[in-house]
Amino acid sequence: MSGSERSTEEKIARLRETLNEHLYRYHVLDAPTISDALYDGLYHELVALEAAHPSFVTPDSPTQRVGAKPLEAFPEVSHRVPMLSLGNAFSDDDIVAFDKRCRTSLGNANHGDIEYACEPKFDGLAISLTYERGIFVRGATRGDGAVGEDVTQNLRTVGSIPLRIATEAAVLEIRGEVLMQRRDFERLNARQAANGEKVFVNPRNAAAGSLRQLDPTLTAERPLSFFAYGIGATDGVELPSTHAASMDMLARLRFPVTAERAVVLGVDGLRQYFARIGAARPTLPFDIDGVVYKVNNLALQQQLGFVSRAPRFAIAHKFPAEEATTILEGIDVQVGRTGAVTPVARLKPVFVGGTTVSNATLHNEDELRRKDLKIGDTVIVRRAGDVIPEVASAVLAYRPVDAREFVMPTRCPKCDSAIIRLEGEAVARCTGGLFCPAQRKQALLHFAQRRAMDIEGLGDKLVDQIVEHNIVHTAADLYRLGLLALASLERMAEKSAQNLLDAIAQSKQTTLARFLFGLGIRHVGEATAKDLAKHFGNLDRLMAATGDELLEVHDVGPVVAQSIRQFFDQPHNCEVVAQLRACGIRWPEHAGVMASAASGAVGAVAAVELKGPFAGKTVVLTGTLATMSRDEAKEKLESVGAKVAGSVSKNTHFVIAGTEAGSKLDKAQALGVPVLSEAEFIVRLDNSETH
Ligand code: IVH
Repeated sequence: MSGSERSTEEKIARLRETLNEHLYRYHVLDAPTISDALYDGLYHELVALEAAHPSFVTPDSPTQRVGAKPLEAFPEVSHRVPMLSLGNAFSDDDIVAFDKRCRTSLGNANHGDIEYACEPKFDGLAISLTYERGIFVRGATRGDGAVGEDVTQNLRTVGSIPLRIATEAAVLEIRGEVLMQRRDFERLNARQAANGEKVFVNPRNAAAGSLRQLDPTLTAERPLSFFAYGIGATDGVELPSTHAASMDMLARLRFPVTAERAVVLGVDGLRQYFARIGAARPTLPFDIDGVVYKVNNLALQQQLGFVSRAPRFAIAHKFPAEEATTILEGIDVQVGRTGAVTPVARLKPVFVGGTTVSNATLHNEDELRRKDLKIGDTVIVRRAGDVIPEVASAVLAYRPVDAREFVMPTRCPKCDSAIIRLEGEAVARCTGGLFCPAQRKQALLHFAQRRAMDIEGLGDKLVDQIVEHNIVHTAADLYRLGLLALASLERMAEKSAQNLLDAIAQSKQTTLARFLFGLGIRHVGEATAKDLAKHFGNLDRLMAATGDELLEVHDVGPVVAQSIRQFFDQPHNCEVVAQLRACGIRWPEHAGVMASAASGAVGAVAAVELKGPFAGKTVVLTGTLATMSRDEAKEKLESVGAKVAGSVSKNTHFVIAGTEAGSKLDKAQALGVPVLSEAEFIVRLDNSETH
């Protein structure tokens, strides 16, 4: 390199550093020290120098934040450590109970207050930022917690997210929230309106819409902010011993970390923090919907562990619901999957809790009478965070003289069948069964949903059409759909029709539990369906089971047993089941707990042949898992029928790799053994049958 080249390179490096410093002051410290014009001048100088010397461009240059090409779709990213959710608390009692649970589990129920790290609960979107040797390499949305979307190029445009950080860590994954500050949101909406474009209902929607643009130049025009609140996967870095110290570390690495964080002691400390942030809420520059409490000591966090998908060591304390008054303009009824006829309030649109509310469920007739609501009333509408809105009460002083009482119709508005309300039941039902298009639509949506048959692409609008056009009557008809019929529907191109047919074909290979859940038998939710599948192991045995035999199933009581019996006693239900099986729907069967117990097998548990991703498989654990200890992971694997081995060989089926995974991971990769992240492991565990 010539002397002049070297000096150009140095100049570029200096400019880059200066610009990064100003970006940090502007976006993170909120304390710019130069004018925008001066910043722009320096930026364009760098652009010009880099254009003349492309070999000196580095990925962390501020000029490289925008400019990536639009994507066709976001690739999927597996999270190494799952992105979980938080339990909610709504009252002081909930907080007292949370603290008590923590103290009891930690063995200091009677003495010593716990130290908690407290933060606002940002009302945005959870994201993960991965840095390898200090370079930002990947940004992802939460997705289902195990697999999210790769939105790296969009996140690169967010000014407060550093493209390079001063760490030696081989991997450092930062978790936090992307949001739009209120001021930025208002400006964006004003601009959108002036350009005749869509305005957003609230900052959260604006942030979500902006982050999910396939063209990063569009995201770059949207003023997004970021706040870090946690650390995910790490390799080659020693973390501090408390959450608060980890946040200080992130602040030193120049991540935006909220100034509103605090460490407090015991329930009283939590109460004071809640009151303080509640009072400050209107003056904060961004929306929050509560606060989050986390046991500060990371070793204690580890000890407390997780319940299903949420940590036991943290909780979100939500602010009380927001209220607004509006007019109850009418009451319609909606027909659900099981025929339940629910009154729905049609409201004069009102902005409450961050969205415009124009409908709210009124649950049932009794609830309506109890609240004494009449059409024409001025009513109080309440909405808490992401909870569905409800009509709390009527303001009787404003009741107009012509306010009208709601009368439950006697015939279904969709199919004209009789609506009846059985003695002792709160709910009125349409008696049309699958003859009723409203019930048919709901039944199909239930059958196709992700947790049942998982038919991707069979959504609301499409089901409306196939039912209205009489193309599909029962779930079995879905498997007889042809390309021509589908492609003739509105907004259905041949390609999407083919994709749907592929998804339908793919759904044929399923599990008994999913199939049972999908049938929509009253009172048979996902958990009961799993219990039934585990107990009987095979559909014919379940269909033939007597009420008493059904009662032997874990958690099945008389109401559920009766509902299952009633379902299979209806010839037309058995007919649909037979047709579905004839269409090729299949699932692995096993002997069932019932069969092994009846045969008097010693150790009936061992005799059960489990099905699922880990059944009969040899699995090796390596590295540290974030949400459970090695022993717990081993226990869980064994309970779903896996054999846990100590070393990797060509006979190993899976290696589950936590952080700091070492030679076992290398060996798995060398032998081509599939490697699962912790998040993938947890999701597959959820899909397994257990002893
Ligand atoms: S900690 C193990 N801290 O709340 C869960 N989450 O229901 C770790 N959120 O999807 C989350 N502010 O997007 C945490 N200060 C905060 C948060 C926060 C907002 C969101 C987050 C997550 C959801 C959890």
